[in-house]
Amino acid sequence: MNRRNFIKTAALTSCASFFASPLMAKTQDKNAILGFKAIDINTKDTFVVPEGYEAKPLISWADPLFSKAREYDESKNIDEKAIENADFVMGDNNDGMFMFELENNRALIAVNNEYINPEIMFNHKGKNINLNDVKYMQNSCGVSIFEVKRLENGFYELVKDSKYNRRITAQTPISISGPAKGDEKLKTKADKKGKLVYGTINNCASGKTPWGTYLTCEENFNDFFDASAEFSQDASQKRYGIKKGAGEYGWSLDERFDVSKNPNEPNRFGWVVEIDPYDPNSMPIKRTALGRFKHENAEVVLDKSSHVVVYMGDDEKHEFIYKFVSKNKYDGKARNLLDEGTLYVAKFNGKVGDNKGSGEWIELVHGKNGLDSKNGFNSQADVVINARLAASIVGATPMDRPEWVAADPNSDFVYVTLTNNDKREELNAPNPRKNNIYGHILRFVNDSSHINTKFSWDIFLLAGNEPFSETGASKNINKDNIFNSPDGLKFDKYSRLWIQTDGKYSNKGAYANMGNNQMFCADPLSGELRRFLSGPIACEITGVIISDDCKTMLVGVQHPGEKGANSTFPYGKTPRSTIMQIRKLDGGILGS
Ligand code: FEO
Ligand code: CA
Ligand code: CA
Repeated sequence: MNRRNFIKTAALTSCASFFASPLMAKTQDKNAILGFKAIDINTKDTFVVPEGYEAKPLISWADPLFSKAREYDESKNIDEKAIENADFVMGDNNDGMFMFELENNRALIAVNNEYINPEIMFNHKGKNINLNDVKYMQNSCGVSIFEVKRLENGFYELVKDSKYNRRITAQTPISISGPAKGDEKLKTKADKKGKLVYGTINNCASGKTPWGTYLTCEENFNDFFDASAEFSQDASQKRYGIKKGAGEYGWSLDERFDVSKNPNEPNRFGWVVEIDPYDPNSMPIKRTALGRFKHENAEVVLDKSSHVVVYMGDDEKHEFIYKFVSKNKYDGKARNLLDEGTLYVAKFNGKVGDNKGSGEWIELVHGKNGLDSKNGFNSQADVVINARLAASIVGATPMDRPEWVAADPNSDFVYVTLTNNDKREELNAPNPRKNNIYGHILRFVNDSSHINTKFSWDIFLLAGNEPFSETGASKNINKDNIFNSPDGLKFDKYSRLWIQTDGKYSNKGAYANMGNNQMFCADPLSGELRRFLSGPIACEITGVIISDDCKTMLVGVQHPGEKGANSTFPYGKTPRSTIMQIRKLDGGILGS
């Protein structure tokens, strides 16, 4: 074995010892990684937590952030007042979120409001959308920021009228920075300089920087665009799904979202947006150096070299995993580190069936690796705006829908969920199953540091169902912990790995005995995982905040009752996306 291969093998086989020292030091008997009794599957309209735990809502879609706003209107009357009101209440479809500490048991929560469910939101169920409805929807998504106070029992409560409470919507002015700022492709009738966008949309998961800002990630932005007339779709629009008929929500009634009238508007979405939650007057910034694709989350790691590294997945079948490395180092004060740096895309090596191998990060830099004018890239702006096309040219490995990336705080391992891919025909080493309807979780470790361009990887789990030999599930999957479509992923400070699902909840056929969407806790060292909670009917479980003492957890229940499913969660009325909070009755550490 040559030295390089030895190091790579060692990196993975020494995984146990790699994890062991910090973990063992921190996990005494009372804080076992998996100390709770797993729950059974749930098919009811309830939120189920393990014995010895309790859960209750913190905030739901349309709850007022200010006293001047009115409570949710069950009559669903969408008039001018309702549109204005939507700007002062919690947005819909809560997704990724982070907490930002304040003094005196207070904190800020920044949470994404990914999209809207017209079938729940309107009496016409989305079948008769007018311009008022569009404005109401535009004010109901984006990001919500609000203050919370922690009570003695560990639960939180909303601080209404806090000076920090704020909504960022599809109409909020946002500046553009980085390589694409001012580029021709970003200029529109309304913004002749290509430097200012109205709004952020399809805010999926998120990130938090060492300097205390929030990163919200724009995912399926193409769902918001349509065309009132035919237009000839170019290669870029094709790759990003911009086409006539793509609009899910009728927003092209607003000309800005009509591609036949505003062909460049879609180029202004699909970015990572930085928000300072501590300054309610600050303008959010689209950080174009991080590339344009259907961003899932932005996992930020401060490397030992002091460079800031951001790991990102592009959630689409056969798309890629990226990382950004800042040019400058973080010195405890710097704030503008996301405009200059190098964007990389992952190329995995290995044999199908080995479920491990090596890999490299390939630079997406204008003038390198074929990213030149011969291939249609005339600048770094072209590279970041069409990151997907650039990544294909440099030979990135097409994945089974990369969702959240999570870095272990006690090791150099980085995990990523590959949620599913029913279009997988051609296998590659990190995506070893055809018609991968269950999904898997992969992990990698860079040689020596997060800024290194070589890495080793293996598969942490392959989800599946009985008979396990037929679905190709990994050994750590058994009849008591089956699920499909891993999506949300986060480590707590003790290296418990929390896994959330956005899967098929029919509980039938290939998905029998999987129940509603749910959340697991896994021990990265042993690979064991247990079902920790389960959500109501037709929801997705997504978004998680774990308090610094690991005694309270906030978990997102997104779109209960979607597509007409029979849910009235959580208040026995119109189903509403809700952030739930969970504590252990004895006040102990969650999961222990
Ligand atoms: Fe918004 Fe890929 O989940
Ligand atoms: Ca997701
Ligand atoms: Ca999802």
